[in-house]
Amino acid sequence: MIKLDYRGVSADVIGSEHGLNINDEFNKYKDTIASIITDLNQRKDKPGQWLQWMNLGYNEETVWYVKEYASMVENRFENILVLGIGGSALGGLAVTEALLKPYWNFLTPEQRNNFPRIFFLDNIDPDTINGILDVLDLKKTLVNIITKSGSTAETMSQYMIIKDRMESELGDYYRRNIVATTDKETGVLRQLADQEGYKTFVVPDDVGGRFSVFSAVGLLPFALVGIDIDEIIQGIKDMDLALKNTDIFNNIAAQNALIHYLMDTQKGKDISVMMPYSSRLKYISDWYVQLWAESLGKAYNNNGECVHIGPTPVKALGATDQHSQIQLYNEGPNNKVINFIRVENFDTTLEIPNIFEYTGIGYLGGKTINDLMNAEADSTRVALADYSRPTITISLSEINGYNLAQLLYMFEVQTAIAGELYNINTFNQPGVEQAKNYTYALMGRSGYEESASEIKSKMSIA
Ligand code: PA5
Repeated sequence: MIKLDYRGVSADVIGSEHGLNINDEFNKYKDTIASIITDLNQRKDKPGQWLQWMNLGYNEETVWYVKEYASMVENRFENILVLGIGGSALGGLAVTEALLKPYWNFLTPEQRNNFPRIFFLDNIDPDTINGILDVLDLKKTLVNIITKSGSTAETMSQYMIIKDRMESELGDYYRRNIVATTDKETGVLRQLADQEGYKTFVVPDDVGGRFSVFSAVGLLPFALVGIDIDEIIQGIKDMDLALKNTDIFNNIAAQNALIHYLMDTQKGKDISVMMPYSSRLKYISDWYVQLWAESLGKAYNNNGECVHIGPTPVKALGATDQHSQIQLYNEGPNNKVINFIRVENFDTTLEIPNIFEYTGIGYLGGKTINDLMNAEADSTRVALADYSRPTITISLSEINGYNLAQLLYMFEVQTAIAGELYNINTFNQPGVEQAKNYTYALMGRSGYEESASEIKSKMSIA
């Protein structure tokens, strides 16, 4: 199991002005938390609650279909190209970056056990899209288009460009090189996929994009590059079981949710920094930023009152950002909770050679880079405590599919519990939809004519 250490937020360590009396707070909120957890678990199977992500660890059918397809296409493709944005890309990117060998796309096929390279196109920069088209041989590329709505302009425009290119290079066979992951019946992509005869996978009902990493949205790309999805599923199931515990003293998701909520509402710390001390976990922060921001940043609460709330998530990377952001974290405004993710055992060990013994860097010789990384995490945490800055430390024994699934699922449950504490709808994203609709209007989508003239007049003054 992963571990959560919250000593760094306690008043004993950072003082009562900035810290919390954890035991008192846990006792005070014990019943509230218990009823939130019970309620989430009771509501999860009801349609329209957007809680189906809590059942993804038990979706054996999807796991079976994903594995079947992955083994069918094994050895057929040199590249996987994922088209998607936001929740349709960030989980896949975070997990593949963490679990595949570093620099995967630069390894030889033998080093990759003949599994394909993987690329995520999650933006619409024309230079990058043209760049990837220069790099990839489309005949040897399987394109996985992922969009729940089936109409997101960014993803669908990428698809249109690539489909067109593929068709002219491969003729009618291009269809075999496309697999779509989308809603089971609605949306333009579903319609096109059925017409064109693509293989398809489903983004289940009541699973929002940012909670979809353990549906086919993530599982398919993982399986295609040889990641053991059974290990991932086991991690979610075990964490789900642990987080069904309604006792806050034994539920790490509830603990971190409550700590963040209290830090924001009582101590003015409305920024949540995610700082893994592992380059392989770098994109976990991007995924967390979306999860936390889109879920908790809301204008109205569940009583219809205008509240404009939500803690701001920030991504950082240890040790790199010690030389960029830590000055601000130590000495700037005391308005952040810093979440460290610490890896106890890296996959490899790298010794620093005992050279330059009699120089100012001689002390490094004979140590390992592993020691240095964890010493930096410890020293930064202690320095932050000296400045009365709150920190949380989440530890993974090692980076593997099981631990990673536990970590991400824990963050999902933490987010759901935090949303209940804030009394907001965690699962909608009206602010995202508004920008999407304005884009449709500006690009001339039919049905959006009225918005188009409205936005054009606003553009002249905005
Ligand atoms: O979490 C969300 O709901 C969003 O970030 C979506 O994932 C993102 O907007 C992409 O939407 P879609 O999957 O419909 O293309």
